[in-house]
Amino acid sequence: MIELAFSILASDFAHLADEVAAAERGGGTIVHVDVMDGHFVPNITFGPPMVQSLRPVTKLPLDCHLMVENPDAFIPAFAEAGADMVSVQQEVCRHLHRTLQLIEQNGMKPGVVINPATPVDTLIEVLPMVHYVLVMSVNPGFGGQKFLPLALEKIAYLAALRKEMGLGFRIEVDGGVAHDTVGAVVEAGADMLVAGSAIFSPGKTEQNAREFLKVARA
Ligand code: DX5
Ligand code: ZN
Repeated sequence: MIELAFSILASDFAHLADEVAAAERGGGTIVHVDVMDGHFVPNITFGPPMVQSLRPVTKLPLDCHLMVENPDAFIPAFAEAGADMVSVQQEVCRHLHRTLQLIEQNGMKPGVVINPATPVDTLIEVLPMVHYVLVMSVNPGFGGQKFLPLALEKIAYLAALRKEMGLGFRIEVDGGVAHDTVGAVVEAGADMLVAGSAIFSPGKTEQNAREFLKVARA
């Protein structure tokens, strides 16, 4: 199933519940929450209190993408706040296997993220324990950046590995995914599509989500 994980980074935080509801009416099925700490990435966003505020306003799964230096320190707080899925950046995890175990032990679905410069091969040993792999198609930190085509080969390689290894993890893609790039991304094998700036726009969010999914599922 091809799903839209809409990134609330591009939404109007002053009207967050309405923004989420509009994207959901348009067919979005996952709320993508971009957590940035100002260290791993040159930007600051929000943390567990935001997840806690979101939890009662939607039944959709909350997918927290942790762009932080020390994810282990925050994993229990995200679980407590009501997160369903948590992904961590391969680049900051000295003990990636342990961190993924910690996410699982806290009752959430573990995911691992790789930046544009990080090879898929760094993940082979942990693929059996993840629910999803997130391939960054921009350098993380900001919404509205241009899609990097190098992500396509990485997605296709992951899809091939999944088959070869007999696994069931999902493939998520994040950054610059919009109406003009989503076709290639789906063709390469991604099935969880993160999109922010392509979806959120005052008065047009529902329609944007619907049109995005129409192209993605064509
Ligand atoms: C970037 C974030 C993305 C971002 C995507 O660091 O991880 O989730 O919100 O935004 P768009 O869809 O605008 O590229
Ligand atoms: Zn993200």
